[in-house]
Amino acid sequence: MTRPRALVAGAADRLAEAAVFPSFSRIGIAMRRRLEGWGALPPMDGRTVLVTGATSGIGLAAATAMAGLGADVHLVGRDPARGAAALSRVQAAGPGTPRLHLADLSEPSAAAALAAEVAAESDRLDALVHNAGALTRTYEANSEGTERTVATHVLAPHVLTARLAPLLCRAGADGPGAAPPTIVTVSSGGMYTQRFDLDQLESGPQGYDGVKAYARAKRAQVVLAAAWAERFAPAGVASYAMHPGWVDTPGLASGLPRFRALWRPLLRSPEEGADTVVWLAAEGPTAGERPPGAHPPKAQSGFFHDRSARFDRRFPISHPSDPGDGDALLAWCASRTGVS
Ligand SMILES: NC(=O)c1ccc[n+]([C@@H]2O[C@H](COP(=O)([O-])OP(=O)(O)OC[C@H]3O[C@@H](n4cnc5c(N)ncnc54)[C@H](OP(=O)(O)O)[C@@H]3O)[C@@H](O)[C@H]2O)c1
Repeated sequence: MTRPRALVAGAADRLAEAAVFPSFSRIGIAMRRRLEGWGALPPMDGRTVLVTGATSGIGLAAATAMAGLGADVHLVGRDPARGAAALSRVQAAGPGTPRLHLADLSEPSAAAALAAEVAAESDRLDALVHNAGALTRTYEANSEGTERTVATHVLAPHVLTARLAPLLCRAGADGPGAAPPTIVTVSSGGMYTQRFDLDQLESGPQGYDGVKAYARAKRAQVVLAAAWAERFAPAGVASYAMHPGWVDTPGLASGLPRFRALWRPLLRSPEEGADTVVWLAAEGPTAGERPPGAHPPKAQSGFFHDRSARFDRRFPISHPSDPGDGDALLAWCASRTGVS
């Protein structure tokens, strides 16, 4: 990119981000794609990826796109009919071998059972995409009494990551010439409204507010992704969180129906919402100069939107972060799941 063009692209990006609406809507991605000259993503032949929530919306679009790049995709859904439909769509997208797993990730033993199933079929994992999620308006608890939003968005990714770590690390052992394995966590711009507070992470039935519970879980996902980045860096595994913007999916239609009705013409398509997920898994951000003959070293962590790193807090004074948050959250997850 020429210097004047880069200056224009940077200024437009910062303006859109500051005003929120242009950034999160389809305007943001169209503008950035054009001004930043986004290129085609590299092939993912021979790479194995897992996508949770792959039966619908952003997850299905991400799984389809990665299959189109040549990856073997493990799709995770919870409904057999939607799973079968997603599997045939992903199968038709590329030459790889997709596999379907059924798991309700809000249930306590589901993530561990899923990880065991995946480990029996694959000996390495190049990308693990934590995408499954939902905004539910009424309080629901799983069979162990844990509120389902926190169980699905925080506890299941914790267990899945811990149990699949050997497969990710095996892919990381390929060395600097290979594309490093990556964990991608699909958070939400809604997390900007909440600070991380472990004591308030799990809501109770009294005065339950589904929007708040969702935003707190999404904030916790950002903390978790950063904690994984620190833990996995020595093994060459990167961990990112991202937010997809406002995307027209069945999840948005059921979670925020009035918002969807109001802004529908400006919402992103699932493919646009999935773009940064696929970019992080297939290519990702580079850090520093490329050493001769080596794959560009990746930045190992960060919070992303539209292929760029973003601040993870819009209100640093009211939403301070504590360097101990990651350790505290990992310890809490371990105590709730028995998996460390
Ligand atoms: N759409 C947006 O504007 C937006 C904005 C910010 C963040 N996000 C995030 O993006 C992710 C994908 O959402 P989406 O908008 O694509 O919604 P979606 O179309 O409803 O897709 C959500 C996927 O997650 C699965 N899922 C939900 N709860 C699950 C559970 N307990 N166990 C297993 N799978 C479960 C769903 O399975 P079923 O098919 O069985 O329901 C579906 O495959 C979510 O994490 C969401 O929070 C979305």
